[in-house]
Amino acid sequence: MLLKGKKGIISGALDSQSIAWKVAERCVEEGAQIVLTNAPVAMRMGEINALAEKCNAPVIGADATSMEDLQNLFQKSMEHFGGKADFVLHSIGMSVNVRKGKPYTDLNYEWMQKTFDVSAISFHKMMHTIWKMDAIKDWGSIVALTYIAAQRVFPDYSEMAESKALLESFARSFGYHLGTAKKVRVNTVSQSPTMTTAGQGVKGFSEFYAYADKMSPLGNAPAEACADYCIALFSDLTRYVTMQNLFHDGGFSTMGMNPAVLQ
Ligand SMILES: NC(=O)c1ccc[n+]([C@@H]2O[C@H](COP(=O)([O-])OP(=O)(O)OC[C@H]3O[C@@H](n4cnc5c(N)ncnc54)[C@H](O)[C@@H]3O)[C@@H](O)[C@H]2O)c1
Repeated sequence: MLLKGKKGIISGALDSQSIAWKVAERCVEEGAQIVLTNAPVAMRMGEINALAEKCNAPVIGADATSMEDLQNLFQKSMEHFGGKADFVLHSIGMSVNVRKGKPYTDLNYEWMQKTFDVSAISFHKMMHTIWKMDAIKDWGSIVALTYIAAQRVFPDYSEMAESKALLESFARSFGYHLGTAKKVRVNTVSQSPTMTTAGQGVKGFSEFYAYADKMSPLGNAPAEACADYCIALFSDLTRYVTMQNLFHDGGFSTMGMNPAVLQ
């Protein structure tokens, strides 16, 4: 019961493969009360209502690029909780250029801006809203999910690489302000490739998934283990960890070459 009595907002649960779905389930197992949120269009397509029922959680629709929607999300969440939140998960990503098959050397910049807005600026907007509405308790915890393409080149990840670099930078910069004012910590978790809707949208994902699995001494970290890590970061056991990009990748990020890959 690591999260007993805590209250949290979980974005990005689309279906049972979503990383956020596993995080939501684990939060409730650990004694937390949660609110689920996703883009209204995803809520219509997805299976989030089944999760909501299982977790006894309301679903509050919010396009994470809309400040108005975010304000409504935090307002309604605080009404539901009868107070501020203890933790928030940002688990949102989408690349328009990847979706439309545009190569990196010929990107459409309007689409790129949309990608940055959805995948990275939404994180700033979330923290901005939390800041403005004073929606998180002192010693609260904010986590966003990211990928190692922010630091290293993975050509098929395309403009999502820059989105993740921006996302990680927002965690550091807003982490300063939220830490100084409220002792709130902000971290990003850099997760292994994971078989989800967003993951499988990347070209050659299955082959790459197998490669990363071989390269990592512990193998790819599954979504369930990522959820465990998020629980640790929401819990009081990590109160002084902030402004970090934390690799949750079975050791992949530290490897140069693994003979298993050559075989
Ligand atoms: N799957 C992987 O290989 C992998 C690896 C590392 C990091 N990540 C990151 O994990 C996070 C979650 O992705 P996932 O793999 O669980 O895939 P997913 O497709 O299940 O989740 C992505 C979520 O983003 C939501 N979303 C998209 N646009 C939105 C908007 N405008 N407003 C609100 N929500 C919106 C979608 O509805 C969906 O629920 C993403 O940030 C992703 O980049 C994924």
